[in-house]
Amino acid sequence: MTHSTEVRISPKPKKVCKAVAKEMLKLTRDSLQPRINIALSGGKTPEKLFSVLVEKYRDTIPWDRIHLWWGDERCVPPDDEDSNYKNANELLISHVPIPPENIHRIRGEEPPEKEATRYAGEIEKRLNQRGHQPVFDLIILGMGEDGHTASIFPGQLPLFEEKRLCAVSVHPSTGQKRITMTGRVLNNASRIFFMVTGENKALRISEIMNGEEVAKGLPAFHIHPENGMLTWYIDEAAAAKIS
Ligand code: 6PG
Repeated sequence: MTHSTEVRISPKPKKVCKAVAKEMLKLTRDSLQPRINIALSGGKTPEKLFSVLVEKYRDTIPWDRIHLWWGDERCVPPDDEDSNYKNANELLISHVPIPPENIHRIRGEEPPEKEATRYAGEIEKRLNQRGHQPVFDLIILGMGEDGHTASIFPGQLPLFEEKRLCAVSVHPSTGQKRITMTGRVLNNASRIFFMVTGENKALRISEIMNGEEVAKGLPAFHIHPENGMLTWYIDEAAAAKIS
């Protein structure tokens, strides 16, 4: 197992997003591949990243070679306020020259189990393989206050050993159904960027970074690309409790 981890701390969320966007430019521009497969996270944190990508990198990132995927999606229609796709489409996709056929959204409006199977099939068909698993060039992840990532929540750690590439999960407090990539495909990525900001994430970040016993119950703790690099992009508020 050869994975490496680095932690980059920026003063504020906007600086975190600028650091991520800059690294995305470098990663994509340096890539010689005709297709660069990137999976986005949901939630609110990526919103500032989307606006930085549009404002600063609309004309420099090779959008025509980028294929966008999602690490997870809420089981709602694509025009629902909760939809990760809707957020990305409104704030990023509709403002950059990325071909429509390069957008691989999870169809939250479909029956969950059927869509999890379909999406896994699309990943399998379109991505290169490493170790008999599809390889994403980059997966961007967020982390919830409870230490969840993608839509793998505490108590759902078996999703890191799940044979399928995608699975249906349930949000523990809202009961909302989600479709999520599972640990095997997440941890097979070449690069993973964890974007975590805000003091409400500081406790979990400290548990993970300080290697505390309780961290083992946190899905975010179990993200480590076997043959890739994990970079934590966090702000000072989220880093405040790291000893
Ligand atoms: C989702 C995400 C989820 C998110 C974290 C952090 O669909 O909600 O993929 O894993 O990244 O919950 O969310 P915030 O960025 O809103 O704090």
